[in-house]
Amino acid sequence: MRQLLDQRLWGIVRFSSRQIHRTTAAAMPIQVGDKLPSIEVHEGDPHTIVNIADLFKGKKGILIGVPGAFTPACSESHLPSFIKKYDELTKKGIEIIACIAVNDAFVMKAWGKDQKAEGKVRMLADPSGNFARAVDLVLDKEQLVAALGNKRCKRFAMVIEDGVVKKLNVEPDGTGVTCSLAAHVSPLI
Ligand code: BEZ
Repeated sequence: MRQLLDQRLWGIVRFSSRQIHRTTAAAMPIQVGDKLPSIEVHEGDPHTIVNIADLFKGKKGILIGVPGAFTPACSESHLPSFIKKYDELTKKGIEIIACIAVNDAFVMKAWGKDQKAEGKVRMLADPSGNFARAVDLVLDKEQLVAALGNKRCKRFAMVIEDGVVKKLNVEPDGTGVTCSLAAHVSPLI
């Protein structure tokens, strides 16, 4: 009887923490095997809404997260690495590549234009950080918040199949440009 009660209790606790994990602030970062959360972001302008889970449904794709549009490392190496490898990645079956940042849609659009990302990388805006929070990849180091004005998204790259994360490379310090580069992601596909 006691055992049965314990099992039921743990079942409730486990269920509750999973609910909390996926509906409010995530308790731990998204992992390989997890589904992308159903979060709405902006593309091009604030009225054009894209649901992240829907965007990757039924597709093989790559999503990269960056600390900020137009910041040096994002502009000089991270995003360009995926634009340069667009043909190689599509030949491997990648159907969609998207880049997300805690910036507004107008800034993301201008950055994409500046980077010649059009037709290759979809530029998604997560202005309130809803996606970054949902996957628990918020970049909140005090110095960075002071420099950039608000909490941002850690730098990462994920390979997704039908909405499920298959590979995930998050930069250990949140901003470095190592494992999240296209050169390290392409061999995983
Ligand atoms: C960057 O160069 O990507 C960067 C600069 C400052 C803060 C975060 C990222």
